[in-house]
Amino acid sequence: MENDTVEVIAIDGPSATGKSTTAKLVAKELGYTYLDTGAMYRAVAYLAENGELRVENSLNLNEIRISFDKNNQILINGVNREGEIRDPKISTVVSKYSAMPYIREALTARQREIGSGQPCVLDGRDIGTVVFPNAKYKFFLTADYGTRAARRLLELQAAGKALGETLESVEKNLRERDKADSEREIAPLVKAKDAIEIDTSHITIQQQVQKILQSVGEVARCKHSLGATRTG
Ligand code: CDP
Repeated sequence: MENDTVEVIAIDGPSATGKSTTAKLVAKELGYTYLDTGAMYRAVAYLAENGELRVENSLNLNEIRISFDKNNQILINGVNREGEIRDPKISTVVSKYSAMPYIREALTARQREIGSGQPCVLDGRDIGTVVFPNAKYKFFLTADYGTRAARRLLELQAAGKALGETLESVEKNLRERDKADSEREIAPLVKAKDAIEIDTSHITIQQQVQKILQSVGEVARCKHSLGATRTG
């Protein structure tokens, strides 16, 4: 299932805690591949909502091609759908699809395939608990609701997708998704026991990145010396 010899950095946590921005920068700094697993669930939700994918009983990944361009924007069957998958309409339905066992099974298999083949930073909800439970480095990002809603609204405004959205409507979606993602039966959103928790409410993205890079360095040094003790 998992290739332990490859470096995996798992960054989990609820929406709008800065996971993807942080993960992208950490990956860039280390020269690792970045995989946005949430974008994959959003892609499935987008296709299902548009009647382009039937997901009632099974998900045949051969029917769809999900990939990413060099700017980490999602390509569905080769077409850039980054704008579409980030639409608030998709945010309101995505948790329904991500709770479906066959969808999780198919996407988890794809994520393991990608993460086992190369050093990788993956962000999501279940990377450190289910996708790569033996990941060498695990982080769990949190932030208070006010901060998260303000961040997400700014992102939507910057992308021209904030029409009709308010801090209240955005926070409502975040709370509903947290509840659905945390209470689902399979691979719920939960902090892995061995994950390092970082509250991002009052720190900058650069500080988040630094904290993770510093911890990766410390864990690497510690594991190296433990290994040396055991074998020496
Ligand atoms: O962008 P945002 O932080 O709002 O969420 P996302 O990372 O794009 O994830 C969208 C949704 O996909 C989440 O609300 C989860 O329902 C689902 N998801 C998941 O179930 N497992 C993952 N590893 C990643 C995302």
